[in-house]
Amino acid sequence: METIRLLDTSEDITQAAEIIKDGGLVAFPTETVYGLGANALDPEAVEKIYEAKGRPSDNPTIVHISQISDMLKLTYTMTADMKVLMKEFWPGPMTMIVPRRDIVPNVTTGNLDTVGIRMPDNQVARELIRRSGCVIAAPSANLSGKPSPTTAQHVLDDLDGRIDAIIQSEPCRVGIESSVIDMTGDIPMILRPGIITKSDFERALGKTILLDPTLNQRPAPGADFKPKAPGMKYKHYAPKADMIIYDGSYEKVMAAIDAERLQREELGQNVAVIVFKDDEQKEAAREFFAKLREADKNGADVILASALPQEGVGFSVMNRMLKSAGFNVRKV
Ligand code: TXA
Ligand code: MG
Repeated sequence: METIRLLDTSEDITQAAEIIKDGGLVAFPTETVYGLGANALDPEAVEKIYEAKGRPSDNPTIVHISQISDMLKLTYTMTADMKVLMKEFWPGPMTMIVPRRDIVPNVTTGNLDTVGIRMPDNQVARELIRRSGCVIAAPSANLSGKPSPTTAQHVLDDLDGRIDAIIQSEPCRVGIESSVIDMTGDIPMILRPGIITKSDFERALGKTILLDPTLNQRPAPGADFKPKAPGMKYKHYAPKADMIIYDGSYEKVMAAIDAERLQREELGQNVAVIVFKDDEQKEAAREFFAKLREADKNGADVILASALPQEGVGFSVMNRMLKSAGFNVRKV
């Protein structure tokens, strides 16, 4: 199939909405990463998302809405905590896991009896949802296992010819995927950390919440390692190159990276370096996936990266970085 290039103009968004309505696949921008959308309530349409991405079928998709009333299509549940978070963080990079209604197909939720819902903070995304008249299931618009796409070009690099259309728009401003928070238990639990952090949620809710204890932990060999969000168990975000994370003071990290780089270049290796300072956490979030893809494009054999402090947004970026590097961390 030929992938239609659309722009974020009104006419083009209408054309994209028609494709969604007809059961097709459209990649579209959000504030976090580009998503690959289909009508969430049409199982055949959602099935095509898994095919295009090569995604395991037990990994549920997030359903995107454009207005609060869309919630009624997906869930009967509305708790006081949910109301607080919706008011505080929507539209925005937050996905809430809630009990699903029966009309939400199994393929959309990976057979779970819950559904992830998000209202994106991107006009184009919300306009697409509104004009299609659908709620839109959308995982990140990358091939399964590749870094999430933060530009239209990243999407085309992975999915050109595999999807019906793409809406080409600005690079994504957040750069890492939404914070996923499970609202089905007595105490909300973060299943995937994002730019909205644990302390942001706690401030809004006025109480302590939980963090999935498997997050940012190296899976012990043979251990029963089961993150609560199915998607978190996969080796995500993997660049082709080997990757090493250096953890220590800025000076020591820079010295260690320089030494390693020189040594490797003498051996004829192509070395990529990804360094952010401790106070550049939002920049790190915005650029990390793009830098991984750039390293691959440049044919890097190895990526040498600096660790961020594992707090706040730093924790969320490290969540992706540790997986990209297969937990290969050197303390310096
Ligand atoms: O920022 C984002 O969330 C982007 C944009 C496109 O909105 N989407 C995204 O989707 O990152 P995806 O499919 O790549 O990641 C969805 C994550 C996975 O880890 C999945 O397992 C988890 O959310 N998830 C979805 N529904 C769930 C559910 N019902 N229960 C537990 N985890 C769920
Ligand atoms: Mg993804």
